[in-house]
Amino acid sequence: MRIYASFRKTMASSFAVCRLHMRGRASLAKCLQKTDAFLHRSIGTDVVIARAEATRSDESDEKNGRKSLHTLHMERQEQAERSVLISCQSSTNEKKFLKYLSKHGEINKYFFYESYGVYAVVEFANQESVTSLLEGVAIPGGSHESAVPFKSRLLSLRNLGSVDSSNQLSGRQCQPQTTIPINELIKRLSREESIDKQISSLTEAYQLTEENSRLRFLVCSLLKDIATAYFPECTIKPFGSSVNGFGKLGCDLDMLLDLDSITGRNVKLPKSGLSLEYQMKRANSERAVTQSILSVIGECVDQFGPGCVGVQKILNARCPLVRFAHQPSGFQCDLTANNRVAMKSTELLYLYGELDPRVRSLVFTVRCWARAHGVTSSIPGAWITNFSLTVMVLFFLQKRTPPIIPTLDHLRDLAGPGDKTVIEGNDCTFVSDFNKIQLQSNTETLEQLLGEFFEFYATFPFSRMSINIRKGKEQNKPEVAPLHIQNPFETSLNVSKNVNASQLDRFVALCQESAWLLQQSETSTPRGGGAGGEGAPTPWGLATLLLPSQVAGIKSRKKRRREPASERIKGLLESLKNKNQLKKS
Ligand code: GTP
Ligand code: MG
Repeated sequence: MRIYASFRKTMASSFAVCRLHMRGRASLAKCLQKTDAFLHRSIGTDVVIARAEATRSDESDEKNGRKSLHTLHMERQEQAERSVLISCQSSTNEKKFLKYLSKHGEINKYFFYESYGVYAVVEFANQESVTSLLEGVAIPGGSHESAVPFKSRLLSLRNLGSVDSSNQLSGRQCQPQTTIPINELIKRLSREESIDKQISSLTEAYQLTEENSRLRFLVCSLLKDIATAYFPECTIKPFGSSVNGFGKLGCDLDMLLDLDSITGRNVKLPKSGLSLEYQMKRANSERAVTQSILSVIGECVDQFGPGCVGVQKILNARCPLVRFAHQPSGFQCDLTANNRVAMKSTELLYLYGELDPRVRSLVFTVRCWARAHGVTSSIPGAWITNFSLTVMVLFFLQKRTPPIIPTLDHLRDLAGPGDKTVIEGNDCTFVSDFNKIQLQSNTETLEQLLGEFFEFYATFPFSRMSINIRKGKEQNKPEVAPLHIQNPFETSLNVSKNVNASQLDRFVALCQESAWLLQQSETSTPRGGGAGGEGAPTPWGLATLLLPSQVAGIKSRKKRRREPASERIKGLLESLKNKNQLKKS
């Protein structure tokens, strides 16, 4: 995650109380009952009714194939607690391996993948199986180095004395955990027969798989085992692109150490008589508390965390974090704490992505296009971030006629009493019940939307206007910055403050170029070697837009005579010319 605003004050997250030690649907229901009881005590009946409504709407959403992020989190966390991660040998025999493990109980799901060796994720049906398995696991010895005896669910499979014959291995398949290289993607897209299909194919190739999502939650659960040594009631939750629906295979793993689930915050002292409270160390500010907690947990991750390497404590950032690589999963991890607004942004992005399938497809396509041309980068700098880019896509979709997604203000107006959330004085309320959201019937195709997206931002008045998804309308810029995108929840902040003028110019130039390319018949229609054709297909449509050589092509093409562009693009070029002349005079 990017290093951005710090979030200081505490706001108890009521629903996190019972998330520990849950098993299956029965315990999910039990947990919700307990949560309701808790809410009844601490907040009041309205919230209980709201929560019951939310549970009902979650059920009906599930019937429609949609899950709230809250439900998804609970399910995945619970699966992760019942799972172990095992480093295998490349000669591991799948059948024997499963037979050996199933001595401890039924296995629900397992898969293999490669990351510095072969690993297996094994999810048991019951948590008792994990306990039973761990009872028989040995602490390594015999080497010249000593081991820190911190026991985790990251294990190594040893196979002494017997050698498996190679034909027994053939059944084992490794699940990919990284995206296909861009040139392979370009080839794949060039074989598709329409731009719509290219966009769907890109989304399918890049989005997180079920297995990758499970692995992300498992890594959070393994880290939680370290943090619970100090804070037994804490949870570690993924946020950002790992769960907001816009994550690409290989994206970083943003994690939040959630201490709101620690009980006792809402215990009210009686007005008279005896009562007890904990003695606790105090610091000057919430930020200082966050820094000290992350410092200690970071140290433990560094010293004790199996597979965690390159730990850096970046505690003076606006949002303090611990960054490290988790080698067994291959994830680059950022651990933060007390970062509730980011979790709310994640929920919002997830909700928008669930509303209409075109949202995710367009975000994936634009993110991939931006990365292919170096508009975004994994290195922090003056580049547009993926988060900003996503907000730009959402804003564009709000501006369609009729709009494809509603404004954030509208989502706030639809919120029920249980949705009310105020974090550090910022109103982060929006509806959580998908069924309350009425969408308008916009039938634009992905191809149309992609072309229109490029035209929209090729002609957007960035010098005067700010992008605002709360209102769904551009607003006058409140401050000087080349690109101004209002932070949806901390509305006085600009999420793209880091972007400099030359990066914005590059983005606009690429939008112009891409809009133009999509209007050229030679690039917008399938060419030789298309669907069903043999040999290397000629890039066309979206595949052309992803070719890095297109960037270099911009300058040379400007000198060439173009095919007639749309009136809007012509108008834009005209206005740019006039602007340049004005600047010179
Ligand atoms: P990737 O580039 O795939 O990692 O996308 P990401 O969405 O995970 O972005 P990133 O890792 O940079 O940030 C993680 C999450 O933090 C985002 O999804 C947002 O929820 C939040 N976030 C990131 N940058 C900002 C920002 O400038 N302002 C606010 N309010 N939230 C941000
Ligand atoms: Mg991220």
